[in-house]
Amino acid sequence: MGNITFVEHDGKQHQVELEVGKSLMQIAMDNGVPGIDADCGGACACGTCHVIVDSQWIKAAGSINPDELQMLEMTPEKTPTSRLSCQIKASDAMNGMIVHLPEFQM
Ligand code: FES
Repeated sequence: MGNITFVEHDGKQHQVELEVGKSLMQIAMDNGVPGIDADCGGACACGTCHVIVDSQWIKAAGSINPDELQMLEMTPEKTPTSRLSCQIKASDAMNGMIVHLPEFQM
């Protein structure tokens, strides 16, 4: 058990339970966190689950796979800590993690 905080572009915070084994996209959707569209349902095929992991937490988010990287390259708001939230599986190491939401999904 733990928590993760999603921060909207305007600064509004949503602290939700960290459900180990679920993707961050699924956790956000299940908790009504706005700002993630997830059009492809988690198949790494749409890029509309873009999040910006707080730089202090980027290591805990795990490694990025080539398909995810390719999808992120098409995201106008991409930053050095951008990830697709459907490709990050929640683990105990993420307790307290802060994840920022972009202003728009593409
Ligand atoms: S939900 Fe489509 S890429 Fe993540």
